[in-house]
Parts: sequence; C-alpha cells; structure tokens
Amino acid sequence: MRVTVLRETKVPERRVAITPDVVKLLVKAGFVCSIESGAGLSAGFYDSAYTNAGAQIVEDKPALLANTEVLLKVNSPTVEELQMLPTGSAFISFFYAYTVPALIEVCLAKNISSFAMDAVPRISRAQKMDALSSQANLAGYKSVILGANALGKIFPLLMTAAGTIPPAKVLIFGAGVAGLQAIATAKRLGAVVEVTDVRPETKEQVESLGGKFLVVQGEGVKTEGGYATEVSAEYLQKQKEMIAKHIADADIVITTALVIGKKAPVLVTEEMVKTMKPGSVIVDMAVESGGNCEASEFNKTVVKHGVTIIGEANIPSTVAVNASELYAKNISTLLFHLATKDGLKWEMDEDITKGSLITHKGELVHEFTKGILNKNKVQS
Ligand code: NAI
Repeated sequence: MRVTVLRETKVPERRVAITPDVVKLLVKAGFVCSIESGAGLSAGFYDSAYTNAGAQIVEDKPALLANTEVLLKVNSPTVEELQMLPTGSAFISFFYAYTVPALIEVCLAKNISSFAMDAVPRISRAQKMDALSSQANLAGYKSVILGANALGKIFPLLMTAAGTIPPAKVLIFGAGVAGLQAIATAKRLGAVVEVTDVRPETKEQVESLGGKFLVVQGEGVKTEGGYATEVSAEYLQKQKEMIAKHIADADIVITTALVIGKKAPVLVTEEMVKTMKPGSVIVDMAVESGGNCEASEFNKTVVKHGVTIIGEANIPSTVAVNASELYAKNISTLLFHLATKDGLKWEMDEDITKGSLITHKGELVHEFTKGILNKNKVQS
C-alpha cells in the first residue's frame, strides 16, 4: 500500500506524522512510503534519515498526492490537498470534523475516506493509537514549564542565609491526561499543587501524585467514552465560589477542563483574574475550544490586570521531537490495525473503525459528528 506523509502547513506546527524509525516498520511490513521533502526537518528528522529508513523523498507535492492510497498527517489536509488526492483514497490525521464542515463536503464529493485521530475511542485496545492522550501528556508537562518561565519566582521552598522562599502555589483545573501530567511536573519542580475536577474519582489520582484535591459539594459528573459530560450551571457556580480564594492565592493557574464536543467551560472569569496577585500566570490549555479563562486569547500571551495569560493552542508543537515520535507510534498503530496487504479493510462494526471513521464511500458515517452538525444546523 502506498502511504504519503506531507510537510505540515498549519502555523505554528513543527511536528511530522511519521518518524524514520516508524518508516522502517512500515517498509518492513510492505508499505511503500513517500515523504514530502523537508517534512521532518522542524521535528529534527532530515530527508536522508527517511531515505536511509527506506522511504522515498518527493519534491513535487501534486505528483506525490496524486499517487497516494493513504495520506498520513498531523493536522487535517487542506481543501487544496484533498483536491489533489485521488478519488477513493483515504487519510488519517487529527480532524475535529464537526468544526470543519467544508472539509467534510470535499471528502464526500471526492469519495475520500477519512479517519480522525481525535475520534479514536478511549478503550484499552486503542491505547497505543490514542494521540489525544500522547499529545496532551506532553502538553501538560510543557504547560508547567511555560508557566514557570513566565513567573518571576522559583517553584521550590528554598532556605538561604538571606531568608526562606516559600514554594510556588499551582492551581490546576481538570485532572485528565494533561492535568495529571501538569500535577506531576509541578510537584517535581517543588510547587504546592491544588486541583479541582468535576469527576470525584480523580481525587485518588491527584492525591497519589501529591496534589491536594479541592472538593466541590454536589453530584459531580459521569463519564462517557472516557470523557466528562457537561455539568449543570448550578455546579459551575458552586465551583467558582469554592475556588475563588484559591485563585487569589495561586502563583500559576493551569486550566485543562474539557467536555468533549462542547465549548470549553469558563472557569476563570475576568473578575477572578482581577483578584490574582500581580505577576502571577495563567496557562489556558483549552484556548482552542474557547478557553477556560475569559481573558485568554488564542495563540497569544497577554498581560491583563497584571497577570500573564498564556493562550498557546499548540503546545505539543513546542516539543516537536517527542510529540512526533509518540504521534508516529499512534498513527502507525492505527494504520496497522486498519490495513491488510491489499488495502484498508472496512470492518464497519469494529469499535476502533467505527469510532474514528468519519467519511466513507461518499457518506458521513460518524454518528457523533452527524449529531453535532445537525444540532448546529438547527440552531443556525
Ligand atoms: P481529558 O478529557 O483527559 O481531561 C479533561 C478533564 O477536565 C477531565 O478530567 C474532566 O473531568 C475535567 N473537567 C471537565 N469540566 C470541568 C470543570 N468544570 N472543572 C474542572 N474540571 C473539569 O482532556 P486532556 O486530554 O487532558 O486535555 C485537556 C485540555 O487540554 C483539552 O481542552 C485539550 O483540548 C487541551 N489540550 C491543549 C493543548 C494545547 O496545546 N494547548 C494540547 C493538548 C490538549
């Protein structure tokens, strides 16, 4: 099967979908790998490393795409890239299909099958394919580093002859994949860490990492497919009241609260930012889905009311080497799962295929995406 890897064009993006090590595995299994020249450079992989691993390097992008059976990318292909793919071909990438109906239309018109890495179900069997988790893990680590770098303080308790420096206080919203890694990183650096999450079962995980769990009185929330469902406005209000004092005390606030398929819940209002100490820092990891902090701005670092607010939407790209290595493992595991030696197999009732396949044979086959798009149509 002929697989193609393109140089990512989204800005900012330094990751690449496949590393030379993974090319070796694919070639050994019989895949023919073609890579656009320069695709791995910003992640630290020269063209020569791909050639040595058995791939061919191609300069001519239209020719490369025209000869593709399965396209592998980090970010979804653009409309122009989709137009250059042969009818009946496929791609695998992050897609967030419900946010880009125009791309879905092209897939349907060109009979392109699309698999979304962001829709791979969070089940044990699919753990090695779970790119949302691998990337969120790295981003959770880096969010603490970004916050620490912007803070005019150190993290650990330090006793010196000139006086004692108390440890920095870090407050984390959301103890999912990114949040748990942020807790572990902040603790390793010596901070005192407090955490809030709507899922009461996360308390034990937070405490096992040395964090203090802040309990909101109320019913909490259930999970669906590994993700939190939406909580009531009443619960969010209680959470705000409980958290107010802790925000005012924090040196760094990291927000990672996510409800899948929904706009991010606003947990830190502008009024709450005003209560924070000058020089303190907020890292809003949910900025791409609307932001957990009312004052954050997409892909910008701003200072408001004396507080530095970091709204970096693509933190994994800032650790492109590791992020590409993990992503390459995730995407190739999915590819191996879907492929036979004669092409992709279409087991429409199999959990991983069903969970991640968005369009196929000119149809939108993904129920979750269909549901959100229909709801959006009704509302507009
Ligand atoms: P996850 O689903 O594993 O964790 C999200 C957590 O938020 C869950 O534990 C959930 O219970 C909790 N949550 C939901 N509502 C909440 C509320 N009102 N208060 C407190 N907690 C609440 O998600 P993951 O993978 O950890 O990602 C977290 C966020 O980080 C997402 O918004 C994701 O898009 C974003 N992200 C951002 C990156 C960046 O570069 N900025 C990179 C990777 C992820």
